[in-house]
Amino acid sequence: VKQTPVPELNPPTLVVTTEIEASKQQAAWAAVDRHILPHHIVIGIGSGSTVPYVVERIVAQGADVNKHRVFIPTGFQSKELIVAANLRLGDVDQYPVIDVTIDGADEVDRDLNAIKGGGACHLREKVLAEAADTFVPTNAEGPRSRDRLTHSFIIVADYRKNSEYLGTNWKAGVPVEVAPFAYAKVLQNLVLVGSQNPKLRMGKAKAGPVVSDNGNFIIDAPFSTEDLKDPLRILKLIKMLTGVVEVGLFCHMAEAAYFGNVDGSLTVR
Ligand code: 5RP
Repeated sequence: VKQTPVPELNPPTLVVTTEIEASKQQAAWAAVDRHILPHHIVIGIGSGSTVPYVVERIVAQGADVNKHRVFIPTGFQSKELIVAANLRLGDVDQYPVIDVTIDGADEVDRDLNAIKGGGACHLREKVLAEAADTFVPTNAEGPRSRDRLTHSFIIVADYRKNSEYLGTNWKAGVPVEVAPFAYAKVLQNLVLVGSQNPKLRMGKAKAGPVVSDNGNFIIDAPFSTEDLKDPLRILKLIKMLTGVVEVGLFCHMAEAAYFGNVDGSLTVR
């Protein structure tokens, strides 16, 4: 009888090789420690290079707590991570209400708006961010501090993603997922709404376009930093274009962002 190897319940801590990796791990561990609490049962797991450290830290919380939980992936990578860590996999159609979602980002501005989709997962990432709703009562001042329904959507990243304004460090453009049939028209229309030289994202060997987990194409649409000072305006303009499935601008969605710094410190916003 062929035996299937049983995955280790507590995989060893990932080896952290560079300062950047160390800063990702620091951000991820701190976010898990502060936001994934024992009573959280349904947890969204995002995509990107910081997310393995999120899963690593969740596994370290122990099998006793994790056996009661279900983990919802934003794509193929996070699904593999969840399965490899021997955690229970679920889907957002089974669990449309999520306690907390933790995810990476390509860039985050001072108001916690983010560009996402460098890994072409932003449609599912946005659905999981939106599914993570919590009512936060507070009397403090400020636009994000009234009693409100907020998204328990936590961003983790290294210091390179922490910007004053979007488009400062991330020059590749806003990822736009499009229906394949409509991509050429959307490319034209993106120019009309102010994008400079939008391009269909090609696979590594340039053999064909990148295809998302949903079977769609991705366009990278650069905008000026000036335009991206008002990311909600750009998001609305792009969303209006016929053929666009989802835009990698996450406006007013994140509850907090954790950035590991090169000197080993942590920035929390
Ligand atoms: C994928 C994403 C990722 O979270 C984002 O691209 C960050 O990835 P990395 O940590 O690998 O730079 O939005 O669609």
